[in-house]
Amino acid sequence: MQMLLKLLGDGEFHSGEDLGVALGVSRSAVWKRLQQLETETGIEIHKVRGRGYRLASPLYLLDQCRLKESQDDARWSIHVYDSIDSTNAEAMRLVERGESLPLLVLAEQQTAGRGRRGRKWVSPFAENLYYSLALRIDGGMRQLEGLSLVVGLAVLKMLQELGINDAGLKWPNDILIGDRKLAGILLELTGDPADVCHVVIGIGINVNMRASAEVDQSWTSMMLESGFAHDRNLVVTSLGKSLNAYLPMQLEAGFAAFRAEWEACHLWQGKRVTLLAGINEVEGVVLGVDSGGALRLQVDGEVKVFSGGELSLRLRATSDL
Ligand code: BTN
Repeated sequence: MQMLLKLLGDGEFHSGEDLGVALGVSRSAVWKRLQQLETETGIEIHKVRGRGYRLASPLYLLDQCRLKESQDDARWSIHVYDSIDSTNAEAMRLVERGESLPLLVLAEQQTAGRGRRGRKWVSPFAENLYYSLALRIDGGMRQLEGLSLVVGLAVLKMLQELGINDAGLKWPNDILIGDRKLAGILLELTGDPADVCHVVIGIGINVNMRASAEVDQSWTSMMLESGFAHDRNLVVTSLGKSLNAYLPMQLEAGFAAFRAEWEACHLWQGKRVTLLAGINEVEGVVLGVDSGGALRLQVDGEVKVFSGGELSLRLRATSDL
């Protein structure tokens, strides 16, 4: 299947005969495999009489060899899967199996991608980035405080490097363009945060997705914003570089050093919002974040501080101060 995808990946026409020769199978076996490919991955393949088969749009498959070479300075092992339930879940399993850390899990497709607050993360084949980095943290609550916000900054900077300039952050760690979600971050922990623990930093970026009937919120992708398809290998490499630039300082000194930079990228600074915490709602004005990355809201003339992965913000209708 991988081989067939690689052959078709250029987006050009390939005759059934040529594909058969390359794969060492008959033309009818090629046809069966193409059907299977469409069913399993949802990829659209056009068949034109006299010309052959071609993908509806070109694909940038993850190239493990290229990624290994380009991530040499990152010093983390890379595990690439065609399809996995969730890269976060797999990273957690590898941690539990005692694999050496840090390690990075990537997949072409997630069948049970996880979002924040128990939501599903829609993860079509070879369109977006599903990226989970597992790290060991030794005795440091401070290293974890604000970590997801710093990861958001690292993702944002990588996007800017690749020419996506209009994106910003929404507390705690959404990356948006206007009100459209471009990327999301899900941190998952095992162990004792006060002693030794492991954190999986899960990052989902909409890279080349052009349409989806499944996503139940307003969204965009790098491709929709820039007008061209991005090489996902380049996105992985750039993200690795950006994380390498941000994470060491966060793990050494905590979030305080990034607070001003983070607030400068926060799209909802000074906005009137509703904070949702389960069935509870708090209305206030966003003042910013504190030195641990918790949200500072002005509520009825008082400053209140909120933190926790289950919280989420909504913009109120008349939101400018
Ligand atoms: C959010 O809801 O905003 C967070 C989405 C996080 C999705 C990423 S994709 C890679 C990693 N694996 C998962 O199952 N989830 C995260």
